[in-house]
Amino acid sequence: MSSSAGQRIDEESYTSWRQRSELEKMTDLPQALDDELARLDNQFWIPRTKLEEIVSRFCEELEEGLAKDKQNIPMNITWVHNLPTGKERGTIMTLDLGGTNLRVCKVDLYGDEGRKQGDGKYGMEQEQYKLPEELKKGESDALWNFIAEKVEAFFKDHKLDQQYSTQKPMPLGFTFSYPATQDRIDHAVLQTWTKGFDIKGVEGQDAAKQLREKLQERKLPVDLICVINDTVGAMIASAYNDPETIIGGIFGTGCNAAFMASLSSIAKLDPNDERITDASSHNGAVKGEEKMAINCEYGAFDNSHRVLPRTKYDEKIDAESPRPGEQTFEKLSAGLYLGEIFRLILVELLDRGLVFNQDSNQDTRKLREPYIIDTGFLSQIEDDESHKFTKTRELFQSTLSLQPSDVEIEISRRLAEMIAVRGARLCACGVAAICTKEAIKKGHVAADGSVANKHPKFKRRWTKALGEVLGWKEEECGEGEGPITITSAEDGSGLGCAIIGAMELERRTKKEAH
Ligand code: BGC
Repeated sequence: MSSSAGQRIDEESYTSWRQRSELEKMTDLPQALDDELARLDNQFWIPRTKLEEIVSRFCEELEEGLAKDKQNIPMNITWVHNLPTGKERGTIMTLDLGGTNLRVCKVDLYGDEGRKQGDGKYGMEQEQYKLPEELKKGESDALWNFIAEKVEAFFKDHKLDQQYSTQKPMPLGFTFSYPATQDRIDHAVLQTWTKGFDIKGVEGQDAAKQLREKLQERKLPVDLICVINDTVGAMIASAYNDPETIIGGIFGTGCNAAFMASLSSIAKLDPNDERITDASSHNGAVKGEEKMAINCEYGAFDNSHRVLPRTKYDEKIDAESPRPGEQTFEKLSAGLYLGEIFRLILVELLDRGLVFNQDSNQDTRKLREPYIIDTGFLSQIEDDESHKFTKTRELFQSTLSLQPSDVEIEISRRLAEMIAVRGARLCACGVAAICTKEAIKKGHVAADGSVANKHPKFKRRWTKALGEVLGWKEEECGEGEGPITITSAEDGSGLGCAIIGAMELERRTKKEAH
């Protein structure tokens, strides 16, 4: 038996989707569709032995990124030297440029004091603005102007203009969730756009400088003190409350993770570099035990196509994306792409006359629109327990103007499961690789993102795959949980960014006092 996706065949791959599926059958499929499912399952199912192979290569790529610049996985240096103590205090404004929205927040950190007084450790005021689609493929000026305009509006609406001035500016942190090279914490040269963005004039440039210029043009009383990645934000926000935090992970539109690496393991960093000796001497770390948060940017894993089982649908998505050849791992596992994989399979079945055939007289034009189906669509199908799947029917109607038959509902449920299971199992590989490399045996992965938070079965599937690949024993695991568990990152991109801002201000104060 051979596999078109190049999967290693072992005993497990002989178990059919029928044995593995958690879905109850709603109706029988005609033989032709049944055969199709078996073919697709052979390409999408990733057995344990393949997971192990992926994790082993993943570990090598993580090492390569720490050893040298310009590797597949960049392992970006972040200049965040510590996890927080939990005592950090202050008021910081944060900006979060995600894949879909811009969020502006004012974060008040109360540290332990707040907790003692029963106020909680932080307070937050926030506004969210949808990023116009044309901005994502436009010019850099339009992007920074949009952001500066929203900061200005936020200042007015929240009466911050009465408290801050250009002489006494408000500290500002920027969560910029794209791969960036940082020479300092307030600097970020964009390596490449991801998540379908294609804005001209930012790649190779310092995004912090471009934003700062636009803020200054408007004479806004803010001081941009740090640029962070959402994974680092998730890890730091979680660690503010939870000392068992080991990793910050985003399983959303994109996918990526961050962890604290010991300085000695980052071969590409010169330990005598002034910026390191200087930072270490002001953050209280014991000599020899200094750390640095690493933003892995592991969405770029396997860009050289050595190990991931790519299907023709994955190849098509890649070829038609703004950056073909990049973010190979992300394109198989992250939220932006799961719905599109589902759509491409349905279109293929349609073209072969296996679904929505001409007799049913349906208008299939919407189904032909790229990216019309998002991950939420798949989550809702998998979540649908309504009688006769009325919710799924409504979803097809509202998103695609289609009225699916029972057979079409049944095949859609199977496809949604197959694609999401592969995504979750792959997502486990990134975390398994970090844990293997760092010899981490237990702890919390602070996770954020639409797939982690909104997909009903993601956590369970992710945990199961992690257990398979890390070889957990039954006695180590609780109900649906292992020694390494996913916890929800409390608002990483806002809170985490503010905490990093407060840590940076503290470091600067100590340095000045020195
Ligand atoms: C970006 C990362 C980010 C991840 C999750 C990826 O596309 O390159 O910087 O952490 O998405 O948002």
